[in-house]
Amino acid sequence: MRAVVVEEFGTPEVLRLREQPEPVPGPGQVTITTAYAGVNFAEILGRSNGYRVSSLPFVPGLEAAGLVRAAGEGVTELQVGQPVVALLSGGGYAETALAEAAQTFAVPQGLELREAAALPSVLPTAYALIHHAGRLRAGESLLVQGAAGGVGSALGQVARIAGASRIYGVVSHPDKVKYALELGYDEVFVGTDFDRQLAEATGGRGVDLALDSVGGDTWQRSVASLARYGRAVAFGNAGGAAPWTATFADLAPKALSVSAFSILGLAAADPAALRALTTAAFALAATEGVRLPVTAEFPLAEAAEAHRLVESRSSTGKLLLAVNP
Ligand SMILES: NC(=O)c1ccc[n+]([C@@H]2O[C@H](COP(=O)([O-])OP(=O)(O)OC[C@H]3O[C@@H](n4cnc5c(N)ncnc54)[C@H](OP(=O)(O)O)[C@@H]3O)[C@@H](O)[C@H]2O)c1
Repeated sequence: MRAVVVEEFGTPEVLRLREQPEPVPGPGQVTITTAYAGVNFAEILGRSNGYRVSSLPFVPGLEAAGLVRAAGEGVTELQVGQPVVALLSGGGYAETALAEAAQTFAVPQGLELREAAALPSVLPTAYALIHHAGRLRAGESLLVQGAAGGVGSALGQVARIAGASRIYGVVSHPDKVKYALELGYDEVFVGTDFDRQLAEATGGRGVDLALDSVGGDTWQRSVASLARYGRAVAFGNAGGAAPWTATFADLAPKALSVSAFSILGLAAADPAALRALTTAAFALAATEGVRLPVTAEFPLAEAAEAHRLVESRSSTGKLLLAVNP
């Protein structure tokens, strides 16, 4: 089979198309003939600095949609030929992907494989951030970093359905504002002085929930932007800064809470909880019309182009690799 292989960490050029042996499903696993593979920020970190990569060479790709190709021993709920989407521990940038059956799901009702390929990582993450880690209650306000990106595109919609009173987003460029406003955000701030703009918009009150995927100084200022009893959830470190740690003095005056979420951490620690989370999140796609707009699609051989686009910070929504569309 053809697969994109990383043999050394580095710039997008290290993504090379190679012939690879096809994976064979072990007990509790399936293989999927990949139609589309999602492109995630975590894969860019994996390619450039080895984030969540156990050894070289490796095939990146944390999510895929396609048809079940073969089922391993003990797999009874998935049938060969069935259209599915899966959250993977890698290997999505390939003509055949290996998946745990527990992390493989029927395509949500009403969706094509192409739309479904955009969901397995970002939609359950958005659902967990709003409902579990962030515990958003109807009538509360929130602030989201990277509002026009993959997870950001889902967060505006999921927060709206959850009854948020006011949804503020942050983006790096004015070109992204209109896109985010169409996906559930009420107001979108551009640039690093988002905390000043938020203070102005809320009359100094701040928000009940802040969701941060950038880290460093942005995380610190997200926490400082909370209203009394507010919660902040870290879910990424796109800025690459050294972690900032909240102290008693940062949190106590307004009784703030901070937490963190990782979907890959959840998948490793508690597959049943991941399954329940994904089922609840996918129901929003099937019944509430939540969609992740696919804004660009690349052939497998051009995976490097997809990575360059995300790294340029000019992408919006979700990017896919059309492997076998
Ligand atoms: N914890 C989890 O379970 C989980 C799951 C999925 C994703 N994530 C995290 O959520 C974030 C979004 O992931 P995604 O896959 O959906 O990617 P994405 O949003 O499509 O792309 C990355 C986003 O990060 C923002 N960004 C901020 N600083 C950046 C920098 N220095 N370089 C590049 N981008 C930067 C960009 O928005 P602006 O340019 O507008 O700032 C862009 O929207 C990432 O941090 C990712 O690691 C976490």
